[in-house]
Amino acid sequence: MSSLVLTITETLRYRGALGQWSWVLHRISGLGVVLFLTLHVIDTSWSVFYPALYVKAIAVYQTPLFTIGEFALIAAVVYHALNGLRIAILDYRPALWRYQARAAWIVLGASVLLLIPVFILMFGHVLNFYNDPERRVLPFADVLESQLPFAVGIVLAVVAGVLYSGIHGVIAPRKETPTDNMFRRPVGSRWEKFWWSYMRVSGFLIVPLVFGHLAMMHVIQGVFDITAADYVTVGTNVVNQTGTSVEFVANRWNYLVGGIAVWRLYDIALLALTVIHGFNGLRYVLTDYTADSTLIRRGMIYTCIIGALILLMVGGLALLGTIDQTAIRMAEEAVAKLHP
Ligand code: HEM
Ligand code: HEM
Repeated sequence: MSSLVLTITETLRYRGALGQWSWVLHRISGLGVVLFLTLHVIDTSWSVFYPALYVKAIAVYQTPLFTIGEFALIAAVVYHALNGLRIAILDYRPALWRYQARAAWIVLGASVLLLIPVFILMFGHVLNFYNDPERRVLPFADVLESQLPFAVGIVLAVVAGVLYSGIHGVIAPRKETPTDNMFRRPVGSRWEKFWWSYMRVSGFLIVPLVFGHLAMMHVIQGVFDITAADYVTVGTNVVNQTGTSVEFVANRWNYLVGGIAVWRLYDIALLALTVIHGFNGLRYVLTDYTADSTLIRRGMIYTCIIGALILLMVGGLALLGTIDQTAIRMAEEAVAKLHP
């Protein structure tokens, strides 16, 4: 914890050069996207397991608070991706590090340039929605209530990680050799080198996947079109006849090209790469600020490992599942109850 205080005070004291601020922005944007991803994978799985809950989750995405969050999310993904590419390229060609300040400015400028047209297009979808006299928006109290279980879940996950770490400390006390377990290996170990490379390689692979996903969900269609009845998706003839978010996901996941469910494959790759990258990044951050206590530090590592495994399992099972007509009927009933 004292290292967290130190990081904040030192950043403010130096009023960091751009390099310092870009490090802070990279960290905050990465954390914001991990938080969103955690909620997002869990609620996307409801389209298979609890259709009524999924209907509510998408209705929550369409409220003003989440619309503001959606703009922030896009900004975070764009900045983090471009800055991540800068880090990876400079690491690959260390001779270029002397241009790193200029590169940091280029990343900032390129992010702004990219975000201007994207925000204009997204804003067009928001205006269309609010100009529609038939729009239906959930009350703010419902939005808060729907997020409470996630907040409790995150706190419980951290407590469970620390408790598990405590139990581990009692039944398997630490030996004094510096390489006795994977968490105590010195920096530069093979294990850490693997993660260092993974963060860079996965970053390159995530860029097209996540940008493609966001283009489909924000720019081409927009979050409000997920529940637009009879909406014909771009380039295909898939029609969402019931206008439910559950049918929207069913149509995408059942869409076949040459007998292959292409969007399921796309989402599997997106899920695996982003969850492992994001939770390993979360591990970097949490262990940076808990270096003072072995118990808490190890607890944070367990929280990240268990959190990533749960998300991979929940998201993976949903992607292998089937959304049938019964689920779509349940979604229609849920819409009728949500907006009587
Ligand atoms: C508000 C912004 C977003 C919306 C509205 C959205 C929408 C959706 C929808 C409708 C699906 C269902 C499947 C499909 O149609 O492909 C989905 C799945 C998925 N999205 Fe997003 N998405 C958003 C942002 C993101 C971001 C930023 C990421 C990555 C960091 C992401 C990662 C995923 C993953 C991994 C899946 C598969 C989930 C699973 O297996 O349960 N999404 N998204
Ligand atoms: C879009 C493409 C992306 C690229 C190019 C990228 C690149 C990177 C790079 C190079 C690092 C530094 C790793 C290190 O210091 O060893 C990093 C850290 C991180 N990334 Fe990403 N990333 C991307 C997407 C994501 C996504 C989707 C998430 C969330 C699910 C995420 C979350 C994080 C976190 C939390 C960190 C740790 C930050 C820190 O240590 O300060 N990244 N990323």
